[in-house]
Amino acid sequence: MTQLSATAAAMVAPGKGILAADESISTMSARLEAAGVAASEENRRAYRELLVSTPGLAEGISGVILCDETFHQRVSAGAPFPQAMRELGLLPGIKVDTGTAPLRRGSTETVTEGLDGLRARLAHYADAGAAFAKWRAVIRIGPGTPSTAALRANGHALARYARLCQDEGLVPIVEPEVLMTGTHSISRCAWVSSAALLQVVSDLVDLDVDLDGVVLKPNMVVPGIDSGQYADPEQVARETVDVLTATVPAEVAGIAFLSGGQPAAQATANLAAMQELSTPWPLTFSFGRALVDAALAAWAGQPALVAQGQRALAHRVSCNTAALQRRYTPELEREDAA
Ligand code: G3H
Repeated sequence: MTQLSATAAAMVAPGKGILAADESISTMSARLEAAGVAASEENRRAYRELLVSTPGLAEGISGVILCDETFHQRVSAGAPFPQAMRELGLLPGIKVDTGTAPLRRGSTETVTEGLDGLRARLAHYADAGAAFAKWRAVIRIGPGTPSTAALRANGHALARYARLCQDEGLVPIVEPEVLMTGTHSISRCAWVSSAALLQVVSDLVDLDVDLDGVVLKPNMVVPGIDSGQYADPEQVARETVDVLTATVPAEVAGIAFLSGGQPAAQATANLAAMQELSTPWPLTFSFGRALVDAALAAWAGQPALVAQGQRALAHRVSCNTAALQRRYTPELEREDAA
C-alpha cells in the first residue's frame, strides 16, 4: 500500500466521515451574517476552532477540509490549524480550487478554476501539514444543460488537479457536484450524474491518476429542489448506487457524499439507506451544511455558547456515524437519544 492509498483509506475508515469546513471567505461571511454574527476574520477563525476542537470529534471524523484562510490561522492555544488538528487525530485537508467562472460570456454553466500555479501551492500545503485536498466542479441541470463542453472542461480540470495532488503527495478529493437546484426529475439527475462521472473517470484514467489514492465526492441522486417530487431514502439509495456502480471503478478508495443543501436528517437517512446496499467501495459522508448548520445557529457568535455549538456538531456527527454503522433510526435525531 502506498502512502497515498493509506491516507485515502484512513479518510474513509469504517464509521468515519469528512467534515467540510472550507467555505470561502465570502460564503462563510454570508453564513455568519445570516446567523447574526459579524463577518470578521476573527469570527471565521473562532467558528472553525469551535468545530475542530469539538470533544471526541475524531471518533466520527477522519479529516476536516479547510480553506486557505483557516489553514494559515492559529487556534487560541497558538498552534497553526493543521498542527492542532493532527494533535487531535484529524487529517488536515485544503480546498485548492479558486472558485467557478462562466464557461463563456453570459453562460449559466461554469468551469472551476485554480490550475495556474497549483503545483507550487500544493507543495506548500503539503509542507505545512496537509494530507489531502479538495476541488469542486459544479454541474447545473437546466434547459439544454449540462453541455458536453461543460462536462469536458470540468472533468479535465478535476483530473489535472488530481494528478498534481498525487505528484505532491496529497490525496485528491474529486468533487463533481450536480446541483439540486432546478425542476428536474430524479431520473434526469441520475442521467446527468452518470455523464459527469463517466467524463471525470475517463479523464482521471487518461492522466494516470492512481484511483486507490482518490476519494470521490459526488452528489446523491435526488430530484430537483423545485420539482415538487420527493424520493424516499430507499429510492435515493438505489438510484445513487446504480449510477455509481455503473460509472466508478472498484479501485477508487472511497465515496464521500456532499449534502448539497438537503435537510440534515434527510441526508443522513439517505446515507443510512445506502449502507444496506452492496458496493465495492466504502460509502461515507463529507457534508458541509448538513453537519455544521445547527452548530453555527447554536453558537451564534457567543463565546459562552461554544459548548452548545460543539454539542450540535457532535450530535450530527453521531447520527451520521450511526448511519454508517447501520444503526440509524429517526429516533436518534432527538438530541437526548443519540
Ligand atoms: O463543496 C461542497 C462541500 O464540500 C460540501 O458542502 O455538504 O453543504 O453540500 P455541502
